[in-house]
Amino acid sequence: MAKESFFKPFYSVLVLAFVCSFLVSLASVGLRPRQEANRTLDRKKNILLAAGLFQQDKDINTLFSVIESRIINLATGEFVPETEMSVQDFDQLASTNDKKLSRSLSKDEDTAGLRRLEKYSLVYLVTDNSRLSQVVLPVRGKGLWSTMYGYVALDSDLRSIKGLAFYEHGETPGLGGEIENPTWLAGWHGKKIFDDQGNMALKVVKGRSKAKGEAASYEIDGLSGATLTGNGVELLFHFWFDKQGFKPFLDRLAQEERTNG
Ligand SMILES: Cc1cc2nc3c(=O)[nH]c(=O)nc-3n(C[C@H](O)[C@H](O)[C@H](O)COP(=O)(O)O)c2cc1C
Repeated sequence: MAKESFFKPFYSVLVLAFVCSFLVSLASVGLRPRQEANRTLDRKKNILLAAGLFQQDKDINTLFSVIESRIINLATGEFVPETEMSVQDFDQLASTNDKKLSRSLSKDEDTAGLRRLEKYSLVYLVTDNSRLSQVVLPVRGKGLWSTMYGYVALDSDLRSIKGLAFYEHGETPGLGGEIENPTWLAGWHGKKIFDDQGNMALKVVKGRSKAKGEAASYEIDGLSGATLTGNGVELLFHFWFDKQGFKPFLDRLAQEERTNG
């Protein structure tokens, strides 16, 4: 019987490993456009969910056609013309890794645990009979274990919440993961972020809110056994609805709405 080469099994394993890794990378590259398209569709679905416009049996792109996507400069609150920056090509989260498109936050500023803040943000405008009916804003902030990514829809008064949806997080299912629970999310509807003087007033309380009257409109029930995630959600609101976040944009938009009657 011919003697087997000592190296033959190693060659076979090497060739097999090479072929497998080639096939895996081919699948990964080939599936990337589809993954990207699914991610975009999921974001659209969550924007619609926050705005209360999602319908299970309808095409997401058709539903989304009533929403206008724009880019704003966070510091000035101004819209950026499409000729300067294209909504289609703008990757807001990726821009936080670009030194020209973002800045690092000091420890005192970074109350939502973001480390870096982008200069530009996407915003989504919902109009009804050519009047602004809602604005949906992308938000994110640290929970207990992870960064929570979501959308907040504001009513046309630009201070009342129409809805909230989280599309990505790594909080514990059944505890912090309850930020996705539709019953808890429904409790945000109609709550106010700012008081009559325009100051941030929203709180996520521990347990059930005992507030009565006007005070109740600023309080959200906490998540049972997940106060730390709830605190993260409150801090996220305090960050994004202050001057470094969407406050300049909302003030400008409110001014524009008043001017346009
Ligand atoms: C395995 C494990 C996972 C947990 N996950 C979360 C979580 O996702 N969010 C959270 O706020 N607390 C989580 N907790 C609980 C926190 O450590 C903390 O006890 C809780 O936030 C306090 O909230 P409470 O005062 O409402 O009980 C977890 C605890 C354990 C042991």
